[in-house]
Amino acid sequence: TTTQKGGQEYDLPTDLNWEFSREKLQLGAYLGEGAFGEVKLGTADGIIEKGIVSTVAVKTLKKQHSDAELVDLISEMETMKALGKHVNIINLLGCCTTGGELLVIMEFAENGNLRDYLRNNRHHFLYETPNKGPGNSPPLAPQTIGFDPVIGTTEEDDVVSFKDLMSFAYQVARGMEYLVQKKYVHRDLAARNVLVSTHKIVKIADFGMTRFANDYYRKKSDGRVPVKWMAPETLFYRMYTTHSDVWSYGILLWEIVTLGGTPYPSMPDVSKLLEFLKEGRRMGQPPNCPTELYLIMRDCWIEKPEGRPTFSDLVEDIGRILSIAS
Ligand code: ADE
Repeated sequence: TTTQKGGQEYDLPTDLNWEFSREKLQLGAYLGEGAFGEVKLGTADGIIEKGIVSTVAVKTLKKQHSDAELVDLISEMETMKALGKHVNIINLLGCCTTGGELLVIMEFAENGNLRDYLRNNRHHFLYETPNKGPGNSPPLAPQTIGFDPVIGTTEEDDVVSFKDLMSFAYQVARGMEYLVQKKYVHRDLAARNVLVSTHKIVKIADFGMTRFANDYYRKKSDGRVPVKWMAPETLFYRMYTTHSDVWSYGILLWEIVTLGGTPYPSMPDVSKLLEFLKEGRRMGQPPNCPTELYLIMRDCWIEKPEGRPTFSDLVEDIGRILSIAS
């Protein structure tokens, strides 16, 4: 089993559980750049069901790639195999490891990443929050504990309500709860790495960070550095744990409620942010953010990693807000 790389060939072990025939895959438009490669739109005949052609996303290496990038794409593929299936993560569908370049075939999320989706839908947003602004929040209904809201919605695909925002937050928490169970630390949880599928279902993406655990100033493909999503222990001690993922989730909540805002808006430089966090300071309550939600964010940003809520706590807390949202 070989894959081409600049005239050289590399052996990859063929995994018959996942190998998909290259002839049944057609590559189309360029969707964007992932951490180490390119993502293209594709169609795959029979990858989900015999006789059905599915739209898929295909990750490939760039023409000029390093050996490390090949290793990284393989490790992303292997990580996705090991994670198994969950509705709130981008699932692996198959791969082409033989007879040409390495292709990793994943679920396609037609509405793109959550950050851009929220920004593009600002005009469609319905400002109906369970309570308006800080200070005057009604108490949460105690009987809603354990309520399991239906995720996603088929209704009104072209408007985004506060309930939808809470549904996105809830679904990400569910996806992360699953990843915790799989002992996976994401390391780059942010709205840009959450994809929006049909019926307002959201899926956590980008499982390619494993190798870069210590490379914490690495720039994203769009030139931004992800420091604004990082917990203090990650920034200062390079520690990545599920607790630091929870910190990032708090930043993600902030991104959701500001409809794709950029965190720490008045802080353009990294050293200022480090100073700000060192002093124990945090972002304030955004406009249109119910106090209950802000308190959850603040809990995610507790200094001591072990003091933060778990993703199961967050599923319950966000689920409670979701269940009373209109
Ligand atoms: N699935 C995996 N990556 C994707 C992307 N960049 N866009 C849409 N769906 C995807």
